[in-house]
Amino acid sequence: QAGLGMDDSGLGQLVDAFYARIRQDEALGPIFNDAVDDWPEHIGKLTDFWSSVMLGSGRYKGQPVPAHRKHRDRISPALFDRWLALWARTTDEMMLPEVASALQEKAGRIAESLQLALFFRLDG
Ligand code: HEM
Repeated sequence: QAGLGMDDSGLGQLVDAFYARIRQDEALGPIFNDAVDDWPEHIGKLTDFWSSVMLGSGRYKGQPVPAHRKHRDRISPALFDRWLALWARTTDEMMLPEVASALQEKAGRIAESLQLALFFRLDG
């Protein structure tokens, strides 16, 4: 049912469900399963990230670019499209429609800037 709102509880349930799907995805799953040892910690960090991005909570203090650069040899623009498609399906299924579209728009912008940082740096 599509009904969760833009609050910490809704975002937490969304992040939980999204990474459960990610882990089972045949292309994305192996990258995450190799990189992440402590899944409750990762899910907590990503819930803080979305709470900071969408609600301004300021709880996330990490550095996404170096975190992804470590895995650059395994990540490609096509995989970003796959990540975004899974994000779109999961948000459409779980969230209120206006919440789902705001989350999709924000993820698209972040994915764009991560890809610029990962794939289009002139100084390597
Ligand atoms: C962390 C993979 C796209 C947000 C990670 C990690 C992996 C990963 C493996 C764990 C890094 C580590 O600890 O070694 C990917 C892949 C993507 C993707 C394969 C697409 C192909 C995205 C997008 C967003 C995002 C689009 C945001 C909208 C984050 C954040 C972290 C993270 C916030 C935590 C970074 C930190 O440690 O502070 N990602 N990611 N990722 N990812 Fe992604």
